[in-house]
Amino acid sequence: MHKRTLLQATAFAALLATGTLAFAQAAPFKIGLILPMTGQQATTGRQIEAAARLWMAQNGDTVAGRKVELIVKDDTSLPDVTRRLAQELVVNDKVDVLAGMGITPSAMAVAPIATQSKTPLVVMAAATSSITEASPFIVRTSFTLPQVSVALADWAPKNGIKSVVTLVSDYGPGIDAEKYFAERFQFNGGKIADKLRVPLRNPDFAPFLQKVRDLKPDALFVFVPSGAGAAVMKQFGERGMDKAGIKLIATGDVTDDDQLNDMGDVALGVVTSHHYSAAHPSAANKKFVEAFQKANKNLRPNFMAVGGYDGMRVIYEALKKTGGKGGGEALVAGMKGQVFESPRGPVFIDAQTRDIVQNVYLRKVEKKDGQLWNVEFDVLKDVKDPGKTK
Ligand code: PHB
Repeated sequence: MHKRTLLQATAFAALLATGTLAFAQAAPFKIGLILPMTGQQATTGRQIEAAARLWMAQNGDTVAGRKVELIVKDDTSLPDVTRRLAQELVVNDKVDVLAGMGITPSAMAVAPIATQSKTPLVVMAAATSSITEASPFIVRTSFTLPQVSVALADWAPKNGIKSVVTLVSDYGPGIDAEKYFAERFQFNGGKIADKLRVPLRNPDFAPFLQKVRDLKPDALFVFVPSGAGAAVMKQFGERGMDKAGIKLIATGDVTDDDQLNDMGDVALGVVTSHHYSAAHPSAANKKFVEAFQKANKNLRPNFMAVGGYDGMRVIYEALKKTGGKGGGEALVAGMKGQVFESPRGPVFIDAQTRDIVQNVYLRKVEKKDGQLWNVEFDVLKDVKDPGKTK
């Protein structure tokens, strides 16, 4: 009798213990972060990984009782690799969320996997308008090229620029930038003298810039992806374009904060439009830039870092809303409609489109305390992606 009670008690205690243990060790919440860590887009991977780690250092690695685990994979910005890594992360690692996506072709390659496996895909970098339409599980925290290009096409004709040649990388975001800049600029009475497209990989800008010199427009409008801006700027200077009276205007991808400080004086005075500058004068941004630089040997955060930082915020808040339970559909529902103050300014995730609505700033490169910065001088508030068809 005594022995039986003891046995029962032991069994009960064991049950309790495992029960408690199971509660304490709720399965980790896994985020599969796929980024280009090597190759032409490596700065994007470096910036976003650093920002995601900063978010976790500042906000803890436990959310609603779940331990958050970040699994970082390098896709070398080859979409076939992105697809394979996403498949492995979903099938083998059973990640709760996919995130990252350094370039548009990577996001497009992963979209069907997100849909089939009902895994939220938080796009932190890629910026072609149509990406969010490729899967109902995609939520974007970066920006779109139409969103930022239109502002510059409104500014230019009011500032003495009557004719423009456009020069863009020949793929999704470049084609978006070209289309939305040109349409709006022409609508405003401007003339597009030519539209030039350069290959995404290993571009040689020289023959294109020669053509621009011959056409002698008031300005050259450029989009190239983050990481490629310094090369354009260098060749623009070397070919004496500015001395020939041709102004450079661009999306902020070109005067990317990751590279800007090393571009030299040729960058001075260049006007761009974009959603984030490391010089954005808000308390939230000052705090962000300081913490980021402290954690990363003084590296200046760029717009990619902010896309990653805000992407983590969106994931954390969604997980909280599900009470730690997660689940693809519940997480996407929790991501929709989030409103918050980002280092870039106020933002919100449009519940209809799952895309980000944000301010777009006009900026000019200026030297302050010996360093080059994108200094904001005007703002368009709460800009929705004009590229959405619905
Ligand atoms: C993209 O491939 O969508 C992309 C990459 C880098 C940028 C902008 C867009 O700076």
